[in-house]
Amino acid sequence: MKKYVVTGGAGFIGSAIVRGLLQRGDGRVAVIDNFLTGHAVNLDEVRADIEMHTVDIRSYTALASAIRGADVVFHEAAIPSVPRSIHEPAPSHEVNIDGTFNVLRAAAEGGVRRVVYAASSSAYGDTEVLPKVETMNPNPKSPYAVQKLTGEYYCTALAKCYGFEAVSIRYFNVYGPRQDPRSPYSGVLSVFCKAILERTSPTIFGDGLTSRDFTYVDDVVALNLSAADAPAAAVSGNVYNGGNGGRVTLNEAWDLLQKIEGVTIPAKYGPARAGDVRDSQADTVAARRDLGHDPQFTFEEGLRRTLEWYRSQS
Ligand code: UD1
Repeated sequence: MKKYVVTGGAGFIGSAIVRGLLQRGDGRVAVIDNFLTGHAVNLDEVRADIEMHTVDIRSYTALASAIRGADVVFHEAAIPSVPRSIHEPAPSHEVNIDGTFNVLRAAAEGGVRRVVYAASSSAYGDTEVLPKVETMNPNPKSPYAVQKLTGEYYCTALAKCYGFEAVSIRYFNVYGPRQDPRSPYSGVLSVFCKAILERTSPTIFGDGLTSRDFTYVDDVVALNLSAADAPAAAVSGNVYNGGNGGRVTLNEAWDLLQKIEGVTIPAKYGPARAGDVRDSQADTVAARRDLGHDPQFTFEEGLRRTLEWYRSQS
């Protein structure tokens, strides 16, 4: 029986991958999490079906023992957020770079077949051309973007040097059920959903014309499973966009939520955030070609599902 490991498996995306793996049912699933940004509640209904390791990826020995012998490691553990990487640069660096190095070293020493790495669209920075294609030169403009890009380079280089397989997926603003809306660093759609349900105004940083390729979490799970299964010759060492190919402005996202709820609540506006990328949109050709990826959720469908989940929790 296969062994899958999900680092950051109690997080928003990691726990969704855990559930995807359990639904597939072709292996046992081990979770590594230190509950810094993840939450045990995200795994409540699957707790009996997983092997839980409360481990910080900065601690090599404990990490290596949990990873040893895995067929695939999905490396989702991270301190996310562009502004958090600016306000708290040291922990962000230590987890996102040193921690990633530890995961890869443990994969090499533990006989892991493949690592699927949660990379970030932030690596592109501001590009003159949209959509953003994997062949573009990266241009990171925040510590977070540098850290996530460094992880990609480590994946590709260490996989070649030590003989395991690695696939990096650059996530494009993933959203959906279980994204935590309560932190000052929460993803914007989780903050918007909370605000609309509480009938309060969110603050939009900038003029509201900043755009993102918001990607529903179930599409990202499907992409991860494809990245785990695809033939090594076609994908190992590669980087793929994990986006939908669309682009929605912050103003449009807030307008849609008001329309769905049938209310009029003008947003407040504040200064743009340091390190923010202006526009983000994925070219999806390579993921379609090599991973057979076919995103299923339009922005409106994903947002409606997400909003219903937050409503069910309130
Ligand atoms: C970035 C990365 C993304 C990564 C994520 C991890 C880019 C293009 N994307 O997301 O791949 O997964 O970091 O955290 O770099 N905003 C508001 N009001 C709020 C909160 C946010 O207006 O209350 C704005 C931000 O200033 C930003 C946009 O919404 O312009 C999106 O912010 P956020 O959801 O934090 O994600 P990114 O920083 O885009």
